[in-house]
Amino acid sequence: MTPRSVRITGWGMYAPERRLTNADLERVVDTSDEWIVSRTGIRERRIAARHESTATLAAIAGKRAIAVAGLQPDDIDVILVATLTPDYWMPSTGALVKEAIGNTRAAAMDVSAACSGLVYGYSIADSYLRSGMFKNALVVGAEVLSRYLDFSDRGTCILFGDGAGAVVLSASDEEGGGMQGMELTTDPDGAYMIWLPSGGSRSPASGQTLARGEHYIRMEGRETYRYATKTMATTALKAIERAGWKSDEIDLFIPHQANVRIIESVAKGLGLPMDKMFVNLDRYGNTSAASVGMALAEAVDSGRIQIGDKVVLVAFGAGLTSGGIALEWTADPVNGLRAASVEPVATVREPVDWSSVDPIPERLRQVLEGSAGPRVPLDDVVPGEPEPAHHEVLA
Ligand code: ACO
Repeated sequence: MTPRSVRITGWGMYAPERRLTNADLERVVDTSDEWIVSRTGIRERRIAARHESTATLAAIAGKRAIAVAGLQPDDIDVILVATLTPDYWMPSTGALVKEAIGNTRAAAMDVSAACSGLVYGYSIADSYLRSGMFKNALVVGAEVLSRYLDFSDRGTCILFGDGAGAVVLSASDEEGGGMQGMELTTDPDGAYMIWLPSGGSRSPASGQTLARGEHYIRMEGRETYRYATKTMATTALKAIERAGWKSDEIDLFIPHQANVRIIESVAKGLGLPMDKMFVNLDRYGNTSAASVGMALAEAVDSGRIQIGDKVVLVAFGAGLTSGGIALEWTADPVNGLRAASVEPVATVREPVDWSSVDPIPERLRQVLEGSAGPRVPLDDVVPGEPEPAHHEVLA
């Protein structure tokens, strides 16, 4: 039977405890707190502990969202994990999350759409539920980006952080609420503006790719910025129009938390004041697929969203992808208190005959332990260029 509506019933987030401040970064790359704050709005980001991974972060946020929805793990029929930093290439992080949350019956898979991942995942789950195929879906955006960053590249290492955000979508017999309009775009013209060169079939990981630093995220910041400011506003507008709404009717935007200047420009483009934009990137940086889910959970829990509110989720990311969802909020924000019953721990089973090497990149380990050597000289790093990074400076 097809439902009358599909609504968000649960939300949750998890951010690792360890903070990496701009002052910490000043000790490893040629940057300053003043530059980072004025150009991005970011003050600190979180770093996953050695025992944590994308799947454990996702499982904690997922369990919180399920508790908020008033459900049990086995009530979930499908699990979608949006990430660009999966635990492994296979199995999917979704499969690991299924076991970690104690679900025995869901279908589980990953969604690869970079920072737009949670919005893309939401759109897939919504379609499953609208068709009558499933009743409850868990959609999680989760990332451990700190393990894919070159901590000698000041153009990228200052931007990203680790975390997870989740929503539970449920089919309902009640009329109205939930997603009213959606827009998804993919523009491969910008495919190499944000990319991770090696580890895929095009360039399998090898000693050579490692030496060239091709296991780290590369980005053309300025070009990405230009794309983001244009696309975020048009994507949000399309979703709003499809809902039959006007932008000044929106109570709160939950934009991807990449850079506060991008969010300011979206507000300006839509002719709206900044208090319509939820911002928490000052505390978490850009957490890619996790960012919209984390921001939504914090917005609801801090009283910024009430029943009946018109809310827009909007994101852009590598691909280049963008996604916007205009939705009517129906859940009682008080339910968010239920998340407190979920301890911030999750265990993902590892193979019996294998254990990973230390997952924390050497340079990051030095920063965290306060033993970083001299800062990386500017001339040795060419951010965003597909050339070998000069790693001998790290020795
Ligand atoms: N500290 C100090 N100076 C810096 C730093 C730094 N961390 N990084 C760059 N600079 C310097 C540059 O070298 C340049 O110096 P120059 O003028 O002497 O050449 C100067 O600052 C200006 O550089 P720009 O790149 O023009 O700086 P901009 O204002 O564009 O800010 C930034 C850079 C923050 C990266 C911005 O372009 C941005 O936010 N872009 C979007 C990135 C983004 O959102 N990416 C996420 C995509 S999501 C995903 O899918 C993973």
